[in-house]
Amino acid sequence: MTSLELDQDHCIRCGRCINACPQRILGRKPNGSIDFSQGALARCIRCGHCVAICPKGALTLNHISPADLQLMENAPLSDTQRDMLFKGRRSIRAYRDEPVSREVLNKALEEARYAPTASNSEQVEWLLVEGRERLHDLASRVADWMATLPGRYQQVGEAFRSGHDPILRGAPGIIFALGHAATPWNALDCTAAVSYLELALHSYGVGSCWSGFVIAAANNGVDLGLPIPEGRKICAGLMIGYPAVAYTRIPPRKPVRLTVVE
Ligand SMILES: Cc1cc2nc3c(=O)[nH]c(=O)nc-3n(C[C@H](O)[C@H](O)[C@H](O)COP(=O)(O)O)c2cc1C
Repeated sequence: MTSLELDQDHCIRCGRCINACPQRILGRKPNGSIDFSQGALARCIRCGHCVAICPKGALTLNHISPADLQLMENAPLSDTQRDMLFKGRRSIRAYRDEPVSREVLNKALEEARYAPTASNSEQVEWLLVEGRERLHDLASRVADWMATLPGRYQQVGEAFRSGHDPILRGAPGIIFALGHAATPWNALDCTAAVSYLELALHSYGVGSCWSGFVIAAANNGVDLGLPIPEGRKICAGLMIGYPAVAYTRIPPRKPVRLTVVE
């Protein structure tokens, strides 16, 4: 159960928490003090916006002292840093034969925890698959399925059989985002998490590439031979590894197409 404490001695009654709460849990009493009922608290999605916006640290959510929360800093990225982060990321399709440092992966996963999730469900769990044999087995299962399909998919399956790896691109690892099988937002929550993860990995010099073929196989019920926990579903996945290539330029992309309706 969610717990929220408001320290009236520190509260300056500014009302920022009232406005920040997406669930309209907090309100103002006739005397101007801030208040909430336990009934309203039942709607809490634990997004922490009330705690994050309070200038006085007067709110405590789930017994985590505001003093233990990292402070926001206004340190904007330079234009170059922003370009290199967003435009400088490439889908990597050639990897060094070396698994990603667990320490670095954990740091990137730490960043990915902050991807948005519907109603702050934070439903995403991760499954990391490594090891040459395990990865070969995984790609073989996808290739066998692809070989049964018409057109381009079939060619990918055949290419794998002839010794190429268009499925995992020789990556030393693949990480899957698992959602709850029975929730409507699982794919979108996992997509957002993986998008954060690929940018975070890129910021640490780790390459990645969306594994669309593997996800297509999973979506079509192909047994990937993986220990998926009960009630969970593979929703998105990234090949990960240190790039064996370096890009010199940022490629062009289509111009922004924005329609404004007023
Ligand atoms: C949903 C999705 C699935 C993808 N699946 C694959 C894939 O299976 N294999 C692959 O090599 N690239 C895959 N990609 C990478 C795209 O081809 C790549 O993002 C696109 O060509 C643009 O290149 P960039 O990411 O370097 O900007 C996928 C990307 C997305 C978003």
